[in-house]
Amino acid sequence: MPDISSTLKIHRDRCADHLSHPVLATSLEAALQGAIRLIGAFQTDVDITVKGTSNFVSSADLAAENAIVSTIREQFPEHAIISEESHSDRADAEHLWVIDPLDGTSNFLHGIPHFAVSIGYYERGAGKIGVVCNPITADWYVAIEKQGAWHNGQPMLVSRAERLNQAMISCGFHYDRGKMMEATLATLADLFRADIHGIRRFGAAALDIANVACGQYEAFFEYRLSPWDYAAGAILLNEAGGRITDCSGVHLPLGASSGVCATNGSLHPAMLEQLASHLQHFQSGDC
Ligand code: IPD
Ligand code: CA
Ligand code: CA
Repeated sequence: MPDISSTLKIHRDRCADHLSHPVLATSLEAALQGAIRLIGAFQTDVDITVKGTSNFVSSADLAAENAIVSTIREQFPEHAIISEESHSDRADAEHLWVIDPLDGTSNFLHGIPHFAVSIGYYERGAGKIGVVCNPITADWYVAIEKQGAWHNGQPMLVSRAERLNQAMISCGFHYDRGKMMEATLATLADLFRADIHGIRRFGAAALDIANVACGQYEAFFEYRLSPWDYAAGAILLNEAGGRITDCSGVHLPLGASSGVCATNGSLHPAMLEQLASHLQHFQSGDC
């Protein structure tokens, strides 16, 4: 049986076979280098620093980010970078990389094999390439603007469900334990009242959005995420036929945090309606 690194390369190449762009090879190599660092550190003792309530950064996040950034810098030293742990260049740069070296840090630290490297490449604010990779399962989700989205070489397509009572919905809880958490819980209760099939909370937003793009979930929402959580996923989802906005239906920013509503497109109005009724509970800033 092939080891993880060989399977990672096979699945990466199956995606790359369908796509073409001058920075694609660097995007995939950067993600692979990050993934290799995460595989090496998974289920070992890593150094952990606390950023806030239930919000951690580990030596694995930092090693993966270093590997990703060096790979990009080697090829494109003049490109701008926004990354979770170290870079905050301009969001409207001509060439911009938005990087989450380890999405799902809590899962990683608990030994749960559900986390990802997420890399989005943008030109003057327009999404060009999205790459999300789960190093442990060797799942690659790769999309290029106007060329479609691919999962391990298979085309990604959103679900055709048209009603909430046909939907499996995924969500995330922002680190806040105040009004935003209450609003999230209240939204879940409302969604169950709308007879959805179920709620899933797996703990890695980039994979959640990729899973909407693959048609596994009809929708995903979280009341606050950062650009590196959704920059790559947004490109995947748009290319797979879905829709992604903030929780009021507005285009997502790259230079600030935002709520996220990601759907198969058909369910977008219904999801926004569900989210809207709870926005006022924390938008006063008191959360
Ligand atoms: C987190 C994950 C999680 C989401 C959090 C994110 P991190 O990213 O995506 O699912 O609920 O809001 O911050 O911190 O593991 O990179
Ligand atoms: Ca993240
Ligand atoms: Ca992260």
